[in-house]
Amino acid sequence: MANTDDAPPDQEAVRIDAGGWGWTWAADTEGRLHQVGLGPDGADASVDVEAIWYPDSHPTWGGPDPYRPPGLRITHADGTTTTRLRLDRVDRQPLGDDESVSVCTVDESFDLRVRFCVTTHRASGVLEQWIEVDHDEGGPVVLWDYDSIAPTFLVGTDATITQFGGAGWADEWAWTTERLTPGTKVLDSLGGIQPHLQRAPMLLLEPNGPTDEHAGDVVGCSIAWGGNTRFALDLRPRANDDRGDLRLRAGANPLGAQYVLDPGTTFVSPTVAWTWSTGRGQLSDRFHRWTRSRVLRDPDRTRPIVVNNWESTFFDFDEQRIVGLIDRAADVGADLFLLDDGWFGTTSPRDDDTAGLGDWEPDRRKLPRGLPALVEAAGERHLRFGIWVEPEMVNPDSDLFRAHPDWVIRDRRAPREHRNQLALDPLIDEVRDFEVGVVDRVLGGAPGTSYVKWDANRPVTDPGSSALPADRQSNAWVDWVRATWEVMHRVAEGHPDVEVMLCASGGGRTDHGTLRWFHEFWTSDNTDPVTRVRMQWACGHWFPASAMAAHVTSWGARPLPFACAVALSARFGFDLDLDALDDDALTVCRRAVAVARRTQDLVQHGRLVRLVSPVDGTDRSRAALGFVAPDRSRAVVFCYQLDDPLSPPAELRITGLDPDGTYTIDATDLSDDGRSLGAASGAALADGAVAWMADEATTARVIELTRVAAPD
Ligand code: DGJ
Repeated sequence: MANTDDAPPDQEAVRIDAGGWGWTWAADTEGRLHQVGLGPDGADASVDVEAIWYPDSHPTWGGPDPYRPPGLRITHADGTTTTRLRLDRVDRQPLGDDESVSVCTVDESFDLRVRFCVTTHRASGVLEQWIEVDHDEGGPVVLWDYDSIAPTFLVGTDATITQFGGAGWADEWAWTTERLTPGTKVLDSLGGIQPHLQRAPMLLLEPNGPTDEHAGDVVGCSIAWGGNTRFALDLRPRANDDRGDLRLRAGANPLGAQYVLDPGTTFVSPTVAWTWSTGRGQLSDRFHRWTRSRVLRDPDRTRPIVVNNWESTFFDFDEQRIVGLIDRAADVGADLFLLDDGWFGTTSPRDDDTAGLGDWEPDRRKLPRGLPALVEAAGERHLRFGIWVEPEMVNPDSDLFRAHPDWVIRDRRAPREHRNQLALDPLIDEVRDFEVGVVDRVLGGAPGTSYVKWDANRPVTDPGSSALPADRQSNAWVDWVRATWEVMHRVAEGHPDVEVMLCASGGGRTDHGTLRWFHEFWTSDNTDPVTRVRMQWACGHWFPASAMAAHVTSWGARPLPFACAVALSARFGFDLDLDALDDDALTVCRRAVAVARRTQDLVQHGRLVRLVSPVDGTDRSRAALGFVAPDRSRAVVFCYQLDDPLSPPAELRITGLDPDGTYTIDATDLSDDGRSLGAASGAALADGAVAWMADEATTARVIELTRVAAPD
């Protein structure tokens, strides 16, 4: 039962202690909420002047400031377009060391309520925040804007943001830092099913200018939403002052997605997870901790070394070819073989991407003994077996589509194909059951399978749902995400021991909302190691390396030792034609697996330290990052020379170690077994005791550090 704080809506403050930072809201004499504090001391802010002089806590259309875009815009049942909220009460519910807080407001003229909801996770300092709207107006209301947060920052002239958006497929996590200028900057994503191919739903804000790993104010914000997202940054300069007021609005992208809300029903916005930290290193510590605690499935389970067949065979394989690859996977020392796309389809065999999606029976021409023979072949070689599925999709050339042409996402026009496929409409009850059934049936038909790659290879292009009435079609964008999450939830519940990789044409679905039913994601189809270093650098700001699948492939035709070293700094695996490798190459693969065995606990569960940036500064030809054991007894550092050096070798300052401990130092470029570089103290290593060694383009060093003497 919630504690209800019935304090009158005067200057009584609502304080949120987020763990190391927080915010304070206070109601003015009319009950309107204002943000009186935000930041490291934000939860303790005093209300120095009347609350009305502080920025709106979450501006509504029709609120006191007519010059700035709102975070909430509603057309009421009678056609009124303005909303004015006043504080009703604050519900606080303890959750161990944390709490859930609901700041309940009501419209001053309508029977409509908006709750500003918060759940703390003080151990990490990440705050989860969303809004809920319900009403009892005489008819439906329309929500046009429904941001989850809308805080205001007092920023300096060089306030900067970093966004993670690129050209689309194979260009995820492109790093762009820019200075904010007055006006509104919108960073959004579209496409519905794989929007994060276009732009990851994360944003770094440096309100007082660029920061580094250790110092400076940095705010990190992640929209935990498996659909279209939007960040909007409204910067208004102050007169006769160098500073400005920056409002950050974040939530689902409402473009084309106005939500028609019936009386007696509740709209729940996406959750936005955000934190305020000192330096980017702390920001990642916080997001990693929170992701492990509140998002990832089985966060403490060490992830397997995976061999996938996609890039070596595409659709062209048979049982013998796959068993050959399984053999090789065992030979190099992997844990799991993952059979990718192309194994199914009977009437319409999946020989390419034009047919078979939806028909989840093994193609007996390719696999005469079905999947069990492959599970068995893997088991005999002490490997686990995993399987690729794409439950949300259908090819028109399939038995499924021939039986259920009405099951797809479409408006009144003929639906357009994308990658020769259509998306199933999860708002149709039978479709959700079918999708859950796909995984049940595939796993049931191949007992012993313990890993699933869940793919989704097209966006929404013809938004419409036969499950919604004509005047609710725009609700589909929000409802599809929730319906898909229901399917994923049922699958996770039904197969608690099966590990699941989230994939959508690469990293098209890398959000903290969808990931709750998964163990990891496919970071990008782009596996060129040079590009991957930068992608993993950006992605690693938000996710622990255990979640970021990274496979060695032949993309970019880079030297194999370099490609292995890049994949080793995330969840390691191969997507190489192992059968075609010569002995020397196989030796490199075996050596990489041996390094993975020694270091994967550090990479997956240790603390990330970023050392040399490939995305900041003028010389972006190098990168270095490390992972340190929680007790600082061991660490692994990866150094990459991505291009010809542009400047003299960087000093390698290895931070995060025990300064008083002595560490042995072993280094390899993976072309041989490496060598010892002696020993040094943690303090000396932080001071550059190890010189930069990877001095030729596309070479790497993996440095393993082991503490031999701890302080007394
Ligand atoms: C897109 C994925 O990102 C690839 O890894 C592969 O699984 C293909 N789909 C298969 O169609």
